Order: sequence, then structure tokens, then C-alpha cells
Amino acid sequence: MNDAAKLIYDGKEYVFPIKRGSVGPSVLDISRFFQESGAFTYDPGFTSTASCESSLTFIDGDKGVLLYRGYPIEQLAEHGDFLETCFLLLYGDLPTLKQKNEFVPLITRHTMLHEQLIRFYQGFRRDAHPMSIMVAVVGALSAFYHDSIDINDPKQRVLATLRLIAKMPTIAATAYKYSVGHPYVYPRNDLDYTSNFLHMCFSVPCEPYDINPVLSRALDRIFILHADHEQNASTSTVRLAGSSGANPFACIAAGIACLWGPAHGGANEAALRMLQQIGTPDRIPEFIKRAKDPNDNFRLMGFGHRVYKNYDPRARIMQQTAHEVLNELGVRDDPLMAVAMELEHIALNDEYFIQKRLYPNVDFYSGITLRALGFPLSMFTVLFALARSIGWIAQWKEMIEDPRQKIGRPRQLYTGAAPRDYIPLEQR
Ligand code: SDX
Repeated sequence: MNDAAKLIYDGKEYVFPIKRGSVGPSVLDISRFFQESGAFTYDPGFTSTASCESSLTFIDGDKGVLLYRGYPIEQLAEHGDFLETCFLLLYGDLPTLKQKNEFVPLITRHTMLHEQLIRFYQGFRRDAHPMSIMVAVVGALSAFYHDSIDINDPKQRVLATLRLIAKMPTIAATAYKYSVGHPYVYPRNDLDYTSNFLHMCFSVPCEPYDINPVLSRALDRIFILHADHEQNASTSTVRLAGSSGANPFACIAAGIACLWGPAHGGANEAALRMLQQIGTPDRIPEFIKRAKDPNDNFRLMGFGHRVYKNYDPRARIMQQTAHEVLNELGVRDDPLMAVAMELEHIALNDEYFIQKRLYPNVDFYSGITLRALGFPLSMFTVLFALARSIGWIAQWKEMIEDPRQKIGRPRQLYTGAAPRDYIPLEQR
């Protein structure tokens, strides 16, 4: 097996070392190409570009495989829990019982927010999209927790990591309470991570709130599914922001902003709005036709993926979880579930979708479950951000701890005006 690739450019031969991973595609190391040739490589959207080395998450898009530190997502979703997954992504292996018993209380004891942070919420309109609040409040954490923003101090990096994992549910729940005009609910240390989040979202001071263990387990599983996903757009945003030395709270706020887009994490909200717009199975052909029309920018939200050219393994678990939650809530024949399953069936048997290898992704079924759990559509991407925070933080940690890391600074193909002289105003 050769360990170099050759390229002829402008009559000269260039040799690129090939780096091979533990599994998956190899890479051609072209980092010296511009220095030696004066030309750039060109890859808008990074369809063929590996931006870094990572040992966190592996995706095989053709086979529909997703591994966190080598463990298949199906096994983690079935047997694990979200905080265990956080430990796995941060430290490389599943925690022992002793490690888990030490890790969980560390998170629990950081779930409260600085009381003055609550005032930030009052500055927003009640109908502000909760993602705008998430970007603002998470970015503002760096104004309150000065003892965990020095990225060169390992102890401060750990403290920032614990605070972000612990406070994201409190920030998210407080954004929800603000939007519905309810009093904020403080975290409770006697509840597990996800039960505590449900409690902060849905309990009210006037009466007890009983946690449904089936629903809490389902949401915890949804968090596991969303925890990390290689170098997706928001994770790449966090890495790029972190490469400048920005503090971790600012980097995570940048990731939240990027995730908001409907092509990325915003697709779960957009997918449910699409299902509501379709309304009944008999209207599906009209929307399939629009999705295939090159002159119509309508797309089936929750369908298609840059990497998965097979069924997103998370979507399969999301569909199973949707059925589990609807059954637990006694919801028979949810009309949107009927539309979603019929839409999937029709699309997966349609030549256009088969040829372009478009399958349901993680966002296709999640909205049905989140709505059934009681969350408004505007909170769907907030929940995605809550769960993905561990992936962003773990990827940021991996980058910061890499002695080779440097500021990310892509170049361009310039197609603008050639050099020209200034024209005085009276001559224009
Ligand atoms: C997430 O990267 C990650 O890992 C993301 C994520 C994560 O966990 O971080 O998995 C989470 O963001 C999932 C994706 C959620 N987005 C959506 O569901 C929005 C709808 N999907 C599309 O916008 C699209 O599929 C993307 C953005 C997800 C992927 O876009 P690509 O890889 O750039 O592919 P493309 O836009 O070039 O599409 C290829 C072809 C195009 O047709 P042609 O121009 O070649 O003729 O497929 C068509 C597209 O028009 N196409 C679709 C479609 N998605 C792609 N046609 C109809 N409906 C769709 N959903």
C-alpha cells in the first residue's frame, strides 16, 4: 500500500503523504501545497476536505454507521445515559461505576445560574425565539465565570466544561419558562440530569410535578443521539472560533448560532412545520413534486445529509422513540406521525430520492416526539443545542489539547476587480 499521492500541476510533480486513520477514508496531506506550488486547493462546502484529526466520532455515511469513541450509537442509546455519554466523549471511554459516581455530582453542583444572568432574559420580548436567547446567555457566561475562561489553564478548561454541561439545561429551561410567562424553576440536585430538565421546564410552584420515567428516559436517549457528529457545520464553527483562542463560552455561543440554521439543527423545527403544512397523507404527492422541482427551493426538511447516503441510524432510533412516547402518552394515530411515515415510504420508493440517496435524518422524527413531550416548536433546536453542547465541548477540548493546533485561516479563489487607481469624485 503506497503512502504518497502524486499530482502534476503546471508541469511540475508534487508528492503528498497519505495519512491513514484507524477506520474510514485516508487523507492526502496537502498542507505544504500552496507553499510549494503557489496554488490553493478548492473545495467550497468542504465536501472532500478533512479539517482535522479526531478520535471522538466516526461516521460511515454509506453504511449508516455512527460510533462515539468506537461504540455504536444503537448500543449507547439502548444501554447508556446522557451523562455517561458526556464522560465517554470527554475522556475516551465509558466510566467505571466509581468514575461515574464522581462525575455526576460534579455536574449536579454546577446546574444553578448566577442570579444576575436571569436579568438577561428580561431584556428579550416574551416571543423572542429561544435560540436568540441561548446565543446571548451562553455568550454572556464569560462575563460571569472569569475563573474558567483561561484556555491555557487545564483546571479552568475542566471547570468551563463542567459548567457548560451543567448549565445548558437550566439556561434552556429558563428560556422556555420566560417564553410562557411562568416563574423560573431552580434545578434540583435530587433529580437525574434529564428529569431535572423536565422538572425545570414543566413544573409550577403551585403543585407537585411527577416525572414520568418513560418520558425522561426517552428524552435522555434523544440527547445521546444528538451529542456529537464529527465535523458538522456547528462543530466546525466551534473549532474555528476556538482556534483563535476565544473563551469556551464564546465558542459554544458561536456553535449555537450556526446550529440554528434550517439546513442544520433548525431542521427539526422546520420538519415539523412541514409536516403540519402537509397536514394529511393525501397532500404528500404535491410536496414530493415540489421537492423534486429544480425551480422550487422547497426541500423535504429532515431529509438528506452531507454524509449519510443511507438511512441515518439516529433517525431509526428517533422513530422508535416517537412510537414509544406516543404510546406512553396514550396518543393513538398521531396525524403527523401518519404523514411522516407515509412521506418516508413514498420518498424512499421514489426514483429522485433513490438516485440522490436522500434518506430521513435525525431531524425528521424528532419534532413529533418533542411536541408530544410538551415542547413548543421553537424549543426543538434549543434541545438539539443542549445535547450537542457536549460534542462541541469535547471537540474544542481535543483541538485545544493538540500541540499542533493553529488558527484556522482558509484562503480563496479571488474573482474580483484587478488592481486599479482611485477615481476622484468629480471624474466619476
Ligand atoms: C443536521 O452535518 C451533520 O452531521 C449535521 C447533523 C448533525 O448531527 O450535526 O447531522 C444535523 O444538520 C441534519 C441535516 C438537517 N437538514 C435538513 O434536513 C434540511 C434538508 N436537507 C438539505 O437541505 C440537505 O440535504 C443538507 C443540507 C442536509 C445536505 O446538503 P448537501 O450535502 O449540500 O447536499 P445538496 O444540497 O448538494 O443536495 C444534493 C442534491 C441536490 O440536488 P442537485 O442540485 O444535485 O440536483 O439532493 C437534493 C439537492 O437539491 N436534496 C434534496 C434534499 N436534500 C438534498 N431535495 C429535496 N429535499 C431534500 N431534503
